[in-house]
Amino acid sequence: MVIYFDNAATSYPKPFQVPQAMDNFLRSRSANPGRGGHRMALEAGRVVLGVREQVSGLIYAGEPEEIIFTSSATEALNLALIGGLRTGDHLVISSMEHNAVARTAYHLKGIGVEVGVVEADRWGMITPEDVARAIKRNTRMVAAVHASNVTGGIMPIEEIGSLCRKAGIRFLVDASQTAGVIPVNVQQAQADLLAFPGHKGLYGPPGIGVLYVGSGIELEPRKFGGTGSQSEDLEMPHLIPDRYEAGTLNTVGIAGLGAGIDFVQQTGMEKIAAHERELTRHLMVEIKDISRIKIYGPPNPEDRVGVVGFNIEGVDSTEVAFILDQVYGIAVRAGLHCAPLAHKTLGTLEKGLVRVSFSIFNTHKEVDQLISALHEIVREY
Ligand code: ALA
Repeated sequence: MVIYFDNAATSYPKPFQVPQAMDNFLRSRSANPGRGGHRMALEAGRVVLGVREQVSGLIYAGEPEEIIFTSSATEALNLALIGGLRTGDHLVISSMEHNAVARTAYHLKGIGVEVGVVEADRWGMITPEDVARAIKRNTRMVAAVHASNVTGGIMPIEEIGSLCRKAGIRFLVDASQTAGVIPVNVQQAQADLLAFPGHKGLYGPPGIGVLYVGSGIELEPRKFGGTGSQSEDLEMPHLIPDRYEAGTLNTVGIAGLGAGIDFVQQTGMEKIAAHERELTRHLMVEIKDISRIKIYGPPNPEDRVGVVGFNIEGVDSTEVAFILDQVYGIAVRAGLHCAPLAHKTLGTLEKGLVRVSFSIFNTHKEVDQLISALHEIVREY
């Protein structure tokens, strides 16, 4: 049996309801929604609309149409950034962004978008004051991660959102590590755009992501093709969500995401957050005084989602992960976690770090096994 501590990459196991919902959909209702008037197509459309409504409720969006289904958070972030910025615009990102934002920003630089990077502090935390200082006359968008995938640090998105709203700047939030784990509220965050995947804290399958596009926000579509609506017109419809959803949707993934959200809501997000925070606190308390172990990110577990990044001095992070896997059957992720800017900020660009990330299915006993494995590794290597 593997002890799985790589939930920030993708959650495992999935609650049984998720594969069950996907199986049911595929066997009995998998017609193409919006592409025909027959009963099965209508039924498939009802499933999709139902999950759109669930997602909309989860993040306090105004209308279900503001929920765009994508293949991943990366595709959602690409749509928000590339679809929302033009040559001459200024984009502000932070040094804690994942490559889904950082590489897209780099691409945009190539087409004449100016990019400013707000450097996080030594705990990997962004401050609203630093974001405010980065804003210029031509700043059109600020993009910030809700919680870092490297440290778990929860960023002050409400304060950042408020300053963006006052300045008339679009605010994009990457909620990849927070959706399903802590409240994500687009109204409170004053977010215009917000992206997340279905397969992490929402316990859905890979292959389904979401972009929330707030009222009044227009983006250039990134995909062109059939929508089942206004087919006589060669231009993409202005109707949302169709404008951004060309091609057949991942209906099976959407059905799985719906079941994942049901699971989170039935379990209770507060219970999930409290459980992950307790495991985080336990691990941090028990390893912080082990000689040669250094923990990165905010020192208070309350300031994190269930992620702990650390290194053992003198042992490469990938070697620690390899030993944990091969000798102790513990799955973690080491290296750069697709977030090189964050590692530069933390001073771990050369060696990376070992990342442990929890879900509701992890136990105190599993964390104890990791702690004793780390004691042994420190003794022997
Ligand atoms: N972004 C995912 C991670 O942090 C894949 O591992």
